[in-house]
Amino acid sequence: MKSMEEAKEEIKARLSVEDVVGQYIELKRAGRTLKGRSPWGVDKTPSFMVSPEKGIWHDFSANKGGDIFTFIMEVEGVPFREAMEKLAAQAGVELKKYSAGDKKIAQVKARAREALELSTKYYQICLTKNKPVCEYVFYKRNLNRKTVVEFRIGYSPQQGEALKNFLTKKGYNQRELEAAGLLNRFGGDMFRGRMMVPFIDTNGAVIGYTARILDQGEPKYLNTPDTLLFNKSRYIFGLYQAKEAIRREGFVVIVEGNMDVISSHQAGVKQAVATSGTAMTEQHLKILSRLTSDIRLAYDGDEAGVKATERAINLAGGLGVNLTVISNYHGAKDPDELIQKDAELWRAAVNERKPAVEWLLDKYEEKLDLTTGPGKKEFSDVAMRVIAYLKDPVERKHYEQIVAKRIDVDVADLVAKKVDFEKKPKRLKTVKNSEKGTDVLRGVEDNLLAIMLYGGEAGTKVNLELPEDEARLLELEMVYENRYKGWENSALEKEVKGLMTRREEEIRKVRIAELTEKLEKANDDEANDILREIMKLNKGL
Ligand code: UTP
Ligand code: MN
Repeated sequence: MKSMEEAKEEIKARLSVEDVVGQYIELKRAGRTLKGRSPWGVDKTPSFMVSPEKGIWHDFSANKGGDIFTFIMEVEGVPFREAMEKLAAQAGVELKKYSAGDKKIAQVKARAREALELSTKYYQICLTKNKPVCEYVFYKRNLNRKTVVEFRIGYSPQQGEALKNFLTKKGYNQRELEAAGLLNRFGGDMFRGRMMVPFIDTNGAVIGYTARILDQGEPKYLNTPDTLLFNKSRYIFGLYQAKEAIRREGFVVIVEGNMDVISSHQAGVKQAVATSGTAMTEQHLKILSRLTSDIRLAYDGDEAGVKATERAINLAGGLGVNLTVISNYHGAKDPDELIQKDAELWRAAVNERKPAVEWLLDKYEEKLDLTTGPGKKEFSDVAMRVIAYLKDPVERKHYEQIVAKRIDVDVADLVAKKVDFEKKPKRLKTVKNSEKGTDVLRGVEDNLLAIMLYGGEAGTKVNLELPEDEARLLELEMVYENRYKGWENSALEKEVKGLMTRREEEIRKVRIAELTEKLEKANDDEANDILREIMKLNKGL
């Protein structure tokens, strides 16, 4: 059971709802949601909605909705297992690993998690016992007790096999420690004499470490290699601690270093995260774009920062996120250094930002001489490359005008030089017609549940069983926002009354349909009973 959930989670982490739905329906962005035509309905206006942040869809004309799995089930008319297999193949997730027969990997993972939990506690104790290390952590890095506890920072002793000996005594063998990423290639401790910062996953479990040398030395940071638990192209450092603040404040700040994340949290900007020991990948950005569309980069203005920003703009193009760059560090080299200088400056800095494209164009402009022909050529080359990443034609036009003005040419000349970067229109897959057609009862109940959950006072008048599934709750939130947002309480109460009556009618209709079906297979005796019941129900209508 649990491993099926794991497979589902992994598929969801790799495939966005808009990508899956977008294979069947043309979607257009409308604020925080995407809209399209219902694949089942005959609606003339777009009544199909997708919320990338929530990872769900809802069809207002057909009264269906759910996550990527239910979408494939509905649109292809296949059972869950088949939908799962189809999406697993797209996501590159091997389902075999999760089959009931093959529990081995799940066991290895569980053992690795336990070993990492123990080693984290061990490292934490080693930190408290070592005075020079405490000095480094508390005074040189200026971390306070609360931060050190929250991020579970520790210290790995110098001795070559200290942790290995400790865990061996606890019953772990060589293979298990290797799987956890705790051993080096000689079979000794991977981490020695370093400040240990755990990689904590979104469930709060330790899955690896980034380990900093205390003073000078190479490498400065040593990270856990990819293991069964840790995948650096997907892992986002600090997300576990930042998730709530990102939802609450409505934005995320991506910083370069893990220590920047920790300092930022300590300084009160708890929306900070980092990609650990690797450049940003599409998966990183997708995971974050599900939490918020306001993504702020706190990258350096150096060559690497410019490259990283261009990469992010390219990745962000299809995700519809609002990418900005925070660039005023008041002369500090990174957020951590700025915070050491004055935490207040950092708190203010996260609100002073520029659209990423604008920031990038400014950077290129600084580097090039725009009064010369070659300078203009190079500037327009790189600018058009960046603009081509943007999916929105209005946004593209906006920047084309800016660039044309900067090099003093007509937009038409600028556009003429570019190669055709526009993608060919996507060929959409055909949608199977679902047999059930529209489900009126579900639609009525969705509306009632939405009011019950989000309708305040009027919601207390509804007495239905609440769904527990998180995707369902999010879907209902979307229903509420699209249907009832801003309604007065009195109007909502009237709506509840009407819906309750309709619900009863629909339940009766469904019951009658069921009985009618039963009637066909019934013998004479049974048929009489069934008919009587149908008549009774009909009277009520
Ligand atoms: P920096 O060299 O900018 O380090 O590397 P930093 O974050 O400012 O660290 P402190 O403040 O000196 O302790 C930025 C990021 O690059 C990765 C790490 O993720 C680091 O946070 N990195 C750097 C490594 O993975 N290995 C290294 O040896 C160096
Ligand atoms: Mn630093």
